[in-house]
Amino acid sequence: MSEPVSAPRQPEAHEFMPDDYFRQVEKSEIFADERPLEVDLGCGDGSFLVEMAREHPGRSFLGVERLLGRVRKVCRKAEREGLANLKVLRLESRYTVEWLLGPASVSRLHLLCPDPWPKARHHRRRLVQRNFLEAVERVLEPGGELLFKTDHGEYFEWAEEEVAAFGRLERLDWPDDAFFYPKTDFQVQWESEGKVLQSMRLRKVE
Ligand SMILES: C[S@@+](CC[C@H](N)C(=O)[O-])C[C@H]1O[C@@H](n2cnc3c(N)ncnc32)[C@H](O)[C@@H]1O
Repeated sequence: MSEPVSAPRQPEAHEFMPDDYFRQVEKSEIFADERPLEVDLGCGDGSFLVEMAREHPGRSFLGVERLLGRVRKVCRKAEREGLANLKVLRLESRYTVEWLLGPASVSRLHLLCPDPWPKARHHRRRLVQRNFLEAVERVLEPGGELLFKTDHGEYFEWAEEEVAAFGRLERLDWPDDAFFYPKTDFQVQWESEGKVLQSMRLRKVE
């Protein structure tokens, strides 16, 4: 006897759920307008994303998060604040960048406080490495940026080496007052514990 098949989960308000996860999505399928698209990989509880969407009504923001509880939380915040320019995708970050997003579709990618995978045998799980950087370059518009922050010194050095070896993303200065850039939930928590974050701002060469 075959098992009963459960109905697919219905998307939350503000959730972007592709009809097919095995083809690239057009930017216009996520947001129907032509506003620049920013993507926050591993958006967590979404405070950063919500503040950005509030501050920049002329831009669109997509949070990517694998945990359903966090996806729902961010969707509820967007709904409460009526943020039409914020959506959340429940998916794995690497898959999203390497397979789902279309070429030259993203204006800024944010990778803030990702898991550093500190053990040597887990380093291959780190997001910042060759295949990912190639995919980043593909999805960014000309002049688009990847913004990365971590409190993990060894991961930061690793990322600097990977970026230098890749060679097709230009490193820019990123002083604190360069532009509006709210602290994330994890950043606030870690800084309160005395940890120091390092930042990298990378631009796709036109
Ligand atoms: C350390 S938290 C940082 C959250 C947020 N960026 C911040 O700074 O407050 C990492 C977040 O990324 C999510 N995450 C971790 N690995 C992921 C992956 N491979 N794909 C999507 N989300 C991921 C976790 O569930 C978590 O919400």
